[in-house]
Amino acid sequence: MSIRILLAEDDELMRVTVQDHLRDQGWIVDEAVDGHAALALMKQQSYEVVVSDIRMPGLDGTQLLQLVKTQSPNTDVIMMTAYGSADDAVQCLKKGAADYILKPFDLDDLTIRIKRLVEMQEVKARCISSDKGCFSKPTPIIGSSLVIQKMLSMVSQVAVADATVLIHGESGTGKELVAAALHYGSKRASKPYIRLNCAAIPAGLLESELFGHEKGAFTGADQRKIGKFELADQGTILLDEIGDMPLELQVKILRVLQEREVERVGGGIVHLNVRVICATSKDLKQLVAEGKFREDLYYRLQVIPLEVPPLRERENDVLELCAFFLQGFSLERGLTFRLSQEAQDTLAGYRYPGNVRELRNILERVSVLAPAPTIQVWDLPSEIQGTDSLQDVNYTLANAVAHAEKKCILQALRKTTNNKTQAAVLLGISRKNLWEKMKGYGLHA
Ligand SMILES: Nc1ncnc2c1ncn2[C@@H]1O[C@H](COP(=O)(O)OP(=O)(O)OP(=O)(O)O)[C@@H](O)[C@H]1O
Ligand SMILES: [Mg+2]
Repeated sequence: MSIRILLAEDDELMRVTVQDHLRDQGWIVDEAVDGHAALALMKQQSYEVVVSDIRMPGLDGTQLLQLVKTQSPNTDVIMMTAYGSADDAVQCLKKGAADYILKPFDLDDLTIRIKRLVEMQEVKARCISSDKGCFSKPTPIIGSSLVIQKMLSMVSQVAVADATVLIHGESGTGKELVAAALHYGSKRASKPYIRLNCAAIPAGLLESELFGHEKGAFTGADQRKIGKFELADQGTILLDEIGDMPLELQVKILRVLQEREVERVGGGIVHLNVRVICATSKDLKQLVAEGKFREDLYYRLQVIPLEVPPLRERENDVLELCAFFLQGFSLERGLTFRLSQEAQDTLAGYRYPGNVRELRNILERVSVLAPAPTIQVWDLPSEIQGTDSLQDVNYTLANAVAHAEKKCILQALRKTTNNKTQAAVLLGISRKNLWEKMKGYGLHA
């Protein structure tokens, strides 16, 4: 199969360099100088992978990402971003990017990432065609750390109370899982569970999505539309990313909570029995202070606040989650994955700014490309190998040199998929010397 890649990058030198390198892999590469040019190409042609810079004039990478994901959900997007703006990258993962790479990067690193994504697309296509439904299992909430156990006992208590709940937590911590657990643990479990992501719907459409509209309520409303609240009658509605709800709609949500009724756009009052659950990664109190969130609604939602802790605060959950995710990916690939001791230590020591979602993504990628069922530390993406955190260490010259040396060794092992003879050649040292250095850095499995 010929692989088509769309490269969006405004910097010409960068674009030409990356393009040449990708073409050398035998891939078909189309180039775009900005987001608009990329979109125009997407209309004519479908791509397996889009590689896009984040900062571009006109339509930037983040906007392009969102449009690609709506127009062509199976296309994977890799974002390129300057070192130091890892936050942007995390936001992009949340919006559906498959991966990110920090500039300046090693061109081979980019190729490896693209290969992984394409292989993953093939695995997914096989799963879907064999109708195993690999990706639609309900997800239990994994974790035996004290903080998660406390949260889970709170969840089961709160589930049965019929009150409004506000779930708060960083991106990727599992807020949606908690919301589902609240619904399915309540007496409304057999009734509808309706989710709405307030951030994903343009403000102008949100009102009729939520409340529905009568026929003829506005131009284009040629049919009566039932809103999400009405669909959720007797059941539960999850208003996800409630912090992104426009102020003028907030007052209407307040009314639903107080009066238990909704008004369709263009008339028609409907009485409802709906439990409202809200989720957000934003600090609503801060939004209230900035005048972006109504104070009365804030207090109304705060009836039962539930905090989902970030992954870095859950002592031993990382390895438990690894086992859980790897079990799933093992089934999908017909292999039994396990982690070497050093890989476990590395995974457990990383801070996961993207939380559980980031961990899951890392393992999914690794499981597709790992050459053997035992995952070694060099199979892990370089950013989590601790080599990027030079600032944190005691910065003596000897330390810095050791850090750089370890990083080179890991990269060589990754490039040669753990062939030590080839890695030694790449590094320009003898095999014995490599072996000794690996031992010194604790790199033996
Ligand atoms: N404790 C957990 N056990 C198993 N899987 C989890 C757990 N927490 C999160 N996940 C998985 O991690 C991914 C992200 O979770 P989820 O979508 O619920 O995050 P979120 O808090 O809603 O993030 P965002 O704020 O970005 O929307 C999902 O694939 C989810 O299944
Ligand atoms: Mg969410």
